[in-house]
Amino acid sequence: MKKVLIMNGPNLNMLGIREPGVYGTVTLQMIKQNLQVKAAELGIDLTFMQSNHEGVIIDTIHAAHAAMDGIVINPGAFTHYSYAIRDALSSVDVPVVEVHLSNIHKREEFRHTSVTAPVVIGQIAGFGPYGYELGLLALNQHLNS
Ligand code: DQA
Repeated sequence: MKKVLIMNGPNLNMLGIREPGVYGTVTLQMIKQNLQVKAAELGIDLTFMQSNHEGVIIDTIHAAHAAMDGIVINPGAFTHYSYAIRDALSSVDVPVVEVHLSNIHKREEFRHTSVTAPVVIGQIAGFGPYGYELGLLALNQHLNS
């Protein structure tokens, strides 16, 4: 069974409450439950985490080396400036898909840059919670190819 780690960065624990006009009303718990159903259909063993702390995210990426077959990550605002998370992602030999609920490219200028995008397979942005499912499908396709 393939093992996939779903990672969520800062403030994503506030989904449902946080800026519903931008991020919608679906909570992270609902996203997790939906992904668990999809993962079971795909025969994937899913691990789900969220942290507001850069170091915890980095430690979790390191621990994924040789333990996980793939990562789907929404790094939240760290996307735009955390070279440390970018370096952690490129330190481990694990394929990564980057997901954003919102289309970061049509928002504020500072969100247009992703420092993590160059070290991942691809980026999915703008499809709301469905982006996580798309990310899982894309990763699964990559792992099977
Ligand atoms: C986000 C976009 C980021 O710019 C923002 O800081 C987030 C969420 C998204 O999923 O759309 O926290 O990653």
